[in-house]
Order: sequence, then structure tokens, then C-alpha cells
Amino acid sequence: MSSLSHLGSRQHGVQRSWQQYRETCEVLPWGTGTGSKRPSAAPADDQPAQIERARGSRVWDTDGNEYIDFRLSCGPITLGYCHPEVDRAAKEQIDRGVVTSLPVDLERRVAKLMVELVPCADMVRFFKGGGEAMYATTRVARHFTHRDRVVTCGYHGWGLNMDDTQPAALRALHVNIPYGGTDAYAEYLKAHGNETACVCISGDYAAMRPGDPFLADVRELTQRSGVLLVVDEIVTGFRVRRGGIHEFFGVIPDLAAFAKGIANGYPLAAVTGRRDIMAQWPSISITYGGEAVSLAAAEVVLSTYRDQDVIGRLWQLGERLQAGVNEVAARQGIPFRMVGLPVCPQMIFTPSESAGDSTRPPSTRRDPGTYQTELFRGLYRRGLIPYPVMYESIAHTDDEIDYAVNAFSESLQEAYQT
Ligand SMILES: Cc1ncc(COP(=O)(O)O)c(C=O)c1O
Repeated sequence: MSSLSHLGSRQHGVQRSWQQYRETCEVLPWGTGTGSKRPSAAPADDQPAQIERARGSRVWDTDGNEYIDFRLSCGPITLGYCHPEVDRAAKEQIDRGVVTSLPVDLERRVAKLMVELVPCADMVRFFKGGGEAMYATTRVARHFTHRDRVVTCGYHGWGLNMDDTQPAALRALHVNIPYGGTDAYAEYLKAHGNETACVCISGDYAAMRPGDPFLADVRELTQRSGVLLVVDEIVTGFRVRRGGIHEFFGVIPDLAAFAKGIANGYPLAAVTGRRDIMAQWPSISITYGGEAVSLAAAEVVLSTYRDQDVIGRLWQLGERLQAGVNEVAARQGIPFRMVGLPVCPQMIFTPSESAGDSTRPPSTRRDPGTYQTELFRGLYRRGLIPYPVMYESIAHTDDEIDYAVNAFSESLQEAYQT
């Protein structure tokens, strides 16, 4: 196990990484392609701005400081960074060709693994990004149902974000309804059910609870109107369960999209679903559909999920962190809590905090004032990379979780004093 004693010493400062980040911003809007990775300006003294390397549960910033990472590249790293067998398979595939002119057999093998492991998967199509896969599900649903309207719930990637960069005519066909009660869904489908192609649901990290009837209720409503149910398993797939929240809540959707958990960080996403729908696949095609390095990685990742209780270990680690942090917060009389499922718990800073705009990615969704900034400053200083939804990989150890609980305890005290 990697040592814990040197974490948080921050002997190298973080100036170099910020200097590099500022230079990056000169040539790259936001300084990164991933909104959730943008370092916020406020805690510049404490937060590293760029990562140089990663291994297991740890990352090193460009100044050389080491951290236990609970952001995990916004979710995809479930087996730990640089997993030896996954990376070996990817490297071997590089020597055989990254993309080729005819399909590779890996596409079939990885699709078969998905079919074996995911309850709603009769057939599979691969993509590179999660948002791209979700966008494809809406096109597939429109093609199958001959209907135009789409209901979304939560964030599904930039293609389905109906902000003012989308034409008004397209926006008029979309509505985003929050996770939770089904009244608004029932009302919308009563008015527009026969024009609606699909309802797309992603889980709300703060709201999800075991036994929650929401997904089953939406399933029933959609079935009544001949509307397809699409579950966005981009974060929850291969984290909550192998089949994500649809497996967890025992609901079979018509289509589902997966991404983050399926290839331990290699860029791969998948649309899965009912054979009769998937078999009528419309004209949706990408050059990198059979990109073989990510598929080689995915074959090892999915086999690992099949052969080992990865999900069970993620739950154990998550429960240890969530229970530990909530206990130290309660003991100090601080209202902070980590709520929702232990494998993707959401930070809540004040009891009255609302879910905010659920169409934005989790890191930018809530505005809990200075508490989050102050808490994160303390956690960075103590050698953690935090995230509003805290993730573990099976490379994390119990000792690292206990170290993190202690770091939370001290940092919460500081954050709620200021
Ligand atoms: C629930 C959910 N759906 C879709 C996406 C979009 O995936 P990607 O960023 O790979 O396009 C994300 C990204 O964080 C997500 O959290």
C-alpha cells in the first residue's frame, strides 16, 4: 500500500501547475475540455491546477505533490489508474492497430460481455463519449416511434443541453423534468404522450435511495403512452450495479447508455437496449466506432466485473467514507452531509440546499456559498482531490478512507468556522 504519511505536506507548492494552467488558457478556452476539471480561481493557493501522472488511487500534480483522488477523472476510474492488466491489453492492441478498415472481433466480444452483464442489453453499439451515446438514444427513439418530443431528467451531456446555443425549434421539443415525483411526468405525457419519443432519466445523486419507486413509476407511465424509457447509466453503470440504476431499482428500460465504468478511463461509451429497437438502427455512424484500444481495455474491465465483486468493494469503500464523514460532521454539530447512495454520494452543505439546475454537471450544479470552497481548500491541503460526488476505485484502501474521514473532520471544522 502507498504510504499516507507524506500526504498533505505540499512541500512543492502549487505555483508551477497554475503557471502552466494560465498558459493553457491562452490557447484553450477554459484551459481544459472538461468543465468539471476546471480549477476554480478562488482557492488558487491550495488547489493544484494540473495533474502530471496517476497510479492506483493516487495522482501527482505538476509541482510533484501527491493526492488520494476521489474525483477519479469525474468517474471512469473504477479499477484504479494504470490497472496493469487493462493497460497491458491496451498496449498490446496498439501494436496490432488502433483503428482498422474492417470491423475487429473485439467489437463482438465486448458487446457479448455487455449483453451478459447488463440486464437491459440485447444488443450494443459503441461510441466514444457518454453525451454522444445519450444523444444517439434520442435519435434511435425518434426513428423507432416516429415522434419528435424528448423528455430529459438531469444532465445527459452537451448535445442534449437545451440552452440558447440550440435552435428555438429544437428546444421547443425538449423538456427537462426533475428526478423525484412523477406528477410532472404524468402531466406532460397526458398532454404530449403521443408525440413523445422517449423519456431519458439519469439518477439524482442526492435523491436516490434503495427502494425508491421513481424509476418504476416512470417506466409504467412511459409504457402507457408507448414512449421509450432511456436510462442514462453513464455514471451509474458499473458503479451502482453492473447494470447501473436500472438493475438496482429492478426496472428494464428500452434503451440505456453507458460510458464511465466500462473501460477504466479509455474513451468508450455504449448504447444498449431492446433487440427490436436496436435492430432498426438508424443512420448513426462514427469513424471511431470500432476503435480497438479502448475495446481491448473494456474487454479486461468487463471481464474483471464478471469475475470479481468489484461492485461489492465499491459499496464497502463508499459506505465507510459516507458513514465516517457523516458521523464526524454530526459530532461537530455541522450540517454538512454526504447523501444518496454510498457509491456516488452527493455533498450537501446546508439543510435547505436545493437540487438546483439538474441539467448541469454535478460539479457546477449547486451553489453552496463559501462552504464548498473552504472545505475543498482544506481537503486539497491535506492531500485529497475532492469532488461534490465522491468516487472510489477498488485501488482505494480502508486506510485511505480513514485518512480521508480525518481530513474531512479537520477541513469541515475550518470551513464552518469561516
Ligand atoms: C449522467 C451523465 N450523462 C452524460 C454525461 C456526458 O458524458 P460525456 O462527458 O462523456 O459526454 C455525463 C458527464 O458527466 C453524465 O454525468
